[in-house]
Amino acid sequence: MNKQEYINTVKKLNSWAYHYYVLDDPIMTDEGYDKLYQEVQKYEEAHSDEILPNSPTQRVGDVISKGFTKAKHLSRMWSLEDIFDADGLKKWLEKTYRLDDSVTFYCEPKYDGASLDLLYEDGKLIKGITRGDGSVGELITQNVKTIQSIPLTIEHKERIEIRGEVVIFKDEFEKINKERLKRSEALFANPRNAAAGSLRQLDPKITASRNLVFLPYGVGINSLQQPLLSDKMGYIYELGFRKPPLRAVTKGYDEIQTIYEQMQKERDSYAMMLDGMVVKVNEIVAQEDMGYTVKVPRWAVAYKFPAVEKITTLKNIILQVGRTGAVTPVAIVEPTEIEGAVVERATLHNFDEIERMDIRIGDRVIILRSGDVIPKIVKVLVAERSGSEQKVKRPKNCPVCGSELLQEEVLIKCQNLNCEARVVNSIIYFASKACLNIDGLGNKIVEQLFSVGLVKSMLDLFDLNMEKLLELEGFKEKKAQNLLNAIENAKGSDLWRFINALGIEHIGEVASKTIAQAFGLEYLNAVKETLITIEGIGEEMAESYLEFMRVNRETVQKLQDILEPVAPEKEEEVKENPFKGKTIVLTGSMSRPRPKIKEMLESLGAKVSGSVSKKTDFLIYGEDAGSKYDKAISLGVITLSEDEMQRM
Ligand code: IVH
Repeated sequence: MNKQEYINTVKKLNSWAYHYYVLDDPIMTDEGYDKLYQEVQKYEEAHSDEILPNSPTQRVGDVISKGFTKAKHLSRMWSLEDIFDADGLKKWLEKTYRLDDSVTFYCEPKYDGASLDLLYEDGKLIKGITRGDGSVGELITQNVKTIQSIPLTIEHKERIEIRGEVVIFKDEFEKINKERLKRSEALFANPRNAAAGSLRQLDPKITASRNLVFLPYGVGINSLQQPLLSDKMGYIYELGFRKPPLRAVTKGYDEIQTIYEQMQKERDSYAMMLDGMVVKVNEIVAQEDMGYTVKVPRWAVAYKFPAVEKITTLKNIILQVGRTGAVTPVAIVEPTEIEGAVVERATLHNFDEIERMDIRIGDRVIILRSGDVIPKIVKVLVAERSGSEQKVKRPKNCPVCGSELLQEEVLIKCQNLNCEARVVNSIIYFASKACLNIDGLGNKIVEQLFSVGLVKSMLDLFDLNMEKLLELEGFKEKKAQNLLNAIENAKGSDLWRFINALGIEHIGEVASKTIAQAFGLEYLNAVKETLITIEGIGEEMAESYLEFMRVNRETVQKLQDILEPVAPEKEEEVKENPFKGKTIVLTGSMSRPRPKIKEMLESLGAKVSGSVSKKTDFLIYGEDAGSKYDKAISLGVITLSEDEMQRM
């Protein structure tokens, strides 16, 4: 690689990372990225004086700090006044209109994370500083550089402070906590704490591993000339920063209220946690005229969403035995309304977590409910204890069948395969939506069928008939017939539903689909060698699957004969690949005739066009590439050599 190639490669890597981390639209595989990354690393080892400041290698610091030094913000970081309802908004608008009644308002999410100030000079990221007290924060530049959605260099050469919120996406948060649970480490209470904690790690490698995301919301010191905040922010996004999931310029009360309601309705579907919407005067001159109180700008307000955290009392801890035998503690709390739902139960994960948090019955606790996540206890208010709170002991015996419990890593498990709770929950799972989707076969009915002895296993479901059902309490002809129909309808289900319904440990919906796709009706004869070659199936999953099939082969075969599940058709649709759906232009002479290459790309779902435009995703060039190549470069289209295309 020569110097020019090195420069081009860095550009390419940055463009791929931008598509991945900022646009959420990957155009390269991880493998392809890693390969070029290593080439860049190699070049830099040999030419350490030529390392570009925006080389992706410059993100990973390996110096562990002893502590953070303080750093001053060039202009103060303000906080915001909060309002909570339509009335609050009306009052705030009246106040604002008294200062200037011609303004409009820029609305964007209020992200729930940790605020961060980025200083760029001469287009280079110089400092990353936490908010601190608003004037002075902590210098965490090394950590900040590991955040992929923060560009190391920008096209804007004048000095500028770019401000925003560092967050952890909700799915990433769940993932981190799941791993911490496995390793028996203290859980993060919420994504905000996880983000703040990850940002202030002395070892930047830990920060890098947390997949933090930066969302800009404003600027400090700057020389930008746009008269509207919405245009300033548009410019910031163009410099390579992420856009909010929803933003709007609004005229007044009605429009603000509409956007607020939309954002609140959609908030669960956003990747990041929001705790409200920020309303800002859009005209910069008006902002400057209105100015600041001692603490907050007069030109902005945080219109909060209803809280997802509430304080309540822990009344009891009950034990649930799942279909795998895992005994999980569940908190019963004083019923509390959170965002329109009454919360009475919260998860406690496991006994390690109870001991770590030292949760006692009678404690005042903070519970968090966010979207579809089951509410959880995030904090114990130790200071509010009266002394009468009771510690809870780890159970030694199964609360349902009484047999001895065994500790398996962080889980406590009932070992009795015939434990009533395990059987009943397996049947409930069998019938659930993600499995055979048998309507009318929920918890209550399964428990009833089990307790009268009508259904002791999944197979028994298919021996039910009108006569037997009519003997049950609460069953009239109609209800019985509906249930029998629903059970009958499960016949001919997709094979993956059937496999998922078996409730094999470690084999969930995704793995069931993969196995159904790979083996079809031969799923019972799968062997380890082939199983582990399938993407997404690891050693532990394969072993669990095979062991289950070994022990339950006969039952599974019987169920299959009754249910006759349908195997998926062999895949016709083009698999995910970096070229699918992309518009591509070919130029120069290649190792094979161009029509052949075109055919191959089209079979991967690409559209091959003749001329380069802004809409072109890739230009693939062979030797002696001419004007198309130059045009692609000038439009910022990604260029790939034939070799690179092959690798992708
Ligand atoms: S603007 C001069 N916009 O909320 C205005 N802040 O309660 C200063 N925050 O410290 C802040 N999303 O960390 C602004 N879209 C947004 C925000 C936002 C989250 C945080 C920020 C600030 C705190 C104020």
